[in-house]
Amino acid sequence: MACKGTVGVCYGPRCSDFGSREMAKELRQNGYEVEDLDCQSLCPHAPAIRVGDRFIHRATLERINEKLQESL
Ligand code: FES
Repeated sequence: MACKGTVGVCYGPRCSDFGSREMAKELRQNGYEVEDLDCQSLCPHAPAIRVGDRFIHRATLERINEKLQESL
């Protein structure tokens, strides 16, 4: 499958507790390249996911997909 783009996923402890690793797995399965990030000091807004040069706070797969569509 061709890579559709790159998404940065925080793998820090707080974001991991809030499902970032599961989101990363889902994104990879959907053809995105995932960059594993250390804690981004956005823990109160976990999970923190980067699309382009901006972070989505309290990210959900739905919101990530919206931002990915906007960035096309
Ligand atoms: S653990 Fe993700 S921002 Fe700190």
